[in-house]
Amino acid sequence: MKYDVKMLTLDEKLKLLTGVDYWRTYSADGKIGEVVMSDGPCGLRKVRDGKTEASACMPSPSVVANSWSKEAAFLDGKTIADECVEKDVDVILAPGTNIKRTPLCGRNFEYLSEDPYLAGVLAREFINGAQSKGVGTSLKHYCCNNREFERFNQNSEVDERTLREIYLPAFEEAVKAEPWTVMCSYNLINGIYASENKYLIDDVLRGEFGFNGVVVSDWGAVHNQFRRVRAGLDLEMPYSDGAYNDLKDAYERGYITEEQIDRSVKRILELIEKKESAVKSVEYSAEERHANAVAIAKEGIVLLKNDDDILPLKGGKILVSGEYARAPQICGGGSARNTTAYVQTGLDKLISEKLGAEAEVSYLFSRTRTQGISDSLNKTYVAAYDSDTVVICVGNDYTVESEDFDRQGIRLSKTAEDFILNTAAINKNVVVVLYAGSAIDVSEWVESVKAVVFAGFAGEGVNEALSSVLTGETVPSGKLSESFPTGIEETYTGLEHGNGFAERYSDGIFVGYRYYEHLRLPVEFPFGHGLSYAKFTYSDLKIKKTGETEYEVSYNVTNESDFAAKEVSQVYVKDVFSSVLRPKKELKGFSKDEIGAHETKNITVKLDYRSFAYYNVSLKKWYVENGAFEVLVGASSADIRLSERITVELAEDTQYSTGY
Ligand code: GLC
Repeated sequence: MKYDVKMLTLDEKLKLLTGVDYWRTYSADGKIGEVVMSDGPCGLRKVRDGKTEASACMPSPSVVANSWSKEAAFLDGKTIADECVEKDVDVILAPGTNIKRTPLCGRNFEYLSEDPYLAGVLAREFINGAQSKGVGTSLKHYCCNNREFERFNQNSEVDERTLREIYLPAFEEAVKAEPWTVMCSYNLINGIYASENKYLIDDVLRGEFGFNGVVVSDWGAVHNQFRRVRAGLDLEMPYSDGAYNDLKDAYERGYITEEQIDRSVKRILELIEKKESAVKSVEYSAEERHANAVAIAKEGIVLLKNDDDILPLKGGKILVSGEYARAPQICGGGSARNTTAYVQTGLDKLISEKLGAEAEVSYLFSRTRTQGISDSLNKTYVAAYDSDTVVICVGNDYTVESEDFDRQGIRLSKTAEDFILNTAAINKNVVVVLYAGSAIDVSEWVESVKAVVFAGFAGEGVNEALSSVLTGETVPSGKLSESFPTGIEETYTGLEHGNGFAERYSDGIFVGYRYYEHLRLPVEFPFGHGLSYAKFTYSDLKIKKTGETEYEVSYNVTNESDFAAKEVSQVYVKDVFSSVLRPKKELKGFSKDEIGAHETKNITVKLDYRSFAYYNVSLKKWYVENGAFEVLVGASSADIRLSERITVELAEDTQYSTGY
């Protein structure tokens, strides 16, 4: 170790426990190095002298999640980190992996899924990608920060089994990539602020999940200096007046010991050493980062509906309308919103370039975020009348989906809905492209249109990616990482925004598809849903037992089409009988594979103890109850193609009497 706590005086140690300004750690007048941190999950947002420097705007994590691609998540982290190297940032404040408990959460665009397994795997790969460049990460926001409303003071009351099975596993999986830091959230969990929550920080994150890096506060999340040191929260960010005096006073009163101080100081010194010993090099130009953004967006665009195979666009007179076609929404609002220098080319122009003489592509501006039908819409109706196909680009912008506030609903604006319905009444071949950070209620108009493409907030490369998918140059392979309900009323918390001080997570483990399936509620588009231009068939499911609760699940996926395409196959596990209430199925594995024309690919997914276990609160551990389980293989949570029942028979002395 280059640095040792003994090198520092007590005062210097106390100052090291708080940032020296908004983004940097304290360097004791150069006696030790410093670590520079910056946001965020959608690309580097480096602020210098109050101005945000331009950086590549990558697809939002919600789009990376819709790719179901570990490689895309890795490349995303690596690309953002590459720009950090170029701009002297040592830690990127990402990934965010809070579970999407309600589609209303303003920051859902920054998060990965309603499912902890998918969220954990992709967060882990993002961290691996970023840290492969010698740049640290900050896995956030630990934990149960699932709304923005009153986020600084709201208490998430979550029972232990729900914590363990839904809100902690993504962090548990992601820390396997050894993030340099974990960021605690603002809120309380079961009555104790995340920044003072020794159980979650020291006992669980460190003691059980094996995290050995620095726990950093969210910006301004520390409420009491001695309580946070006792809880194991090492670094308060940003600098806060009075922190040093409060820490000194706490030490002098014996509220904190030198040993507790040194424990955190040591971890911060290790962080500084990680930064100083990291091997860093800039690998990408701005153009190459842009190309990576396009590549990831192509993987994450989801084809939700495609009646009469209207897509890919064949040619003819194509009208592209909606303001977002030329000014696409590429990111949500708040600390994750970075600034790109990239100048968009209109979606219409890119489609025209790709289709060439086959098509006559026109564009009409139409503002759909304002109220009332402006003349720009009427022109569109006239133009739609004699077009073969109309592509409508609508959705939310960063004033609707953002940090610091939640959405007031999940439908498009009335103007946008009317625009779609009026256009569809004139032209039966309407393709809707949706830009949003989270689920949209499409029920008002989805039956009136032929196709729906969910672009999400897909970063600066969105129009190149979309034009490639819409014209068939790229075969869509994205699948939903969150359910699209038929309406906000069908979600567990509905339009509730929480009462601002304590919210009981009484939905328990039944979150997302677990909830809709538990109550047999229909959804518009299910978790894991996404269409392709290709047709895939599944066959030959074989399950090989390789250990007490270890299995290799192998199956064939055949691409029945004349062109190569990618498919995301998903493996769910269902406990047929259990002594506790369990979801109808839970995602426990997936694979994204490129499969050639008329090729069959044999795919293997491994299951282990945790694939079958539930968290038993009485035993305070994960527990597999003997009995029948079903292994379900499908193209989505609602499109199961293969299944087989297996029986787990663990030694009798590991079991407890069951209720059945
Ligand atoms: C914000 C966000 C956090 C961000 C940090 C620094 O309040 O909650 O995600 O990284 O502060 O901007």
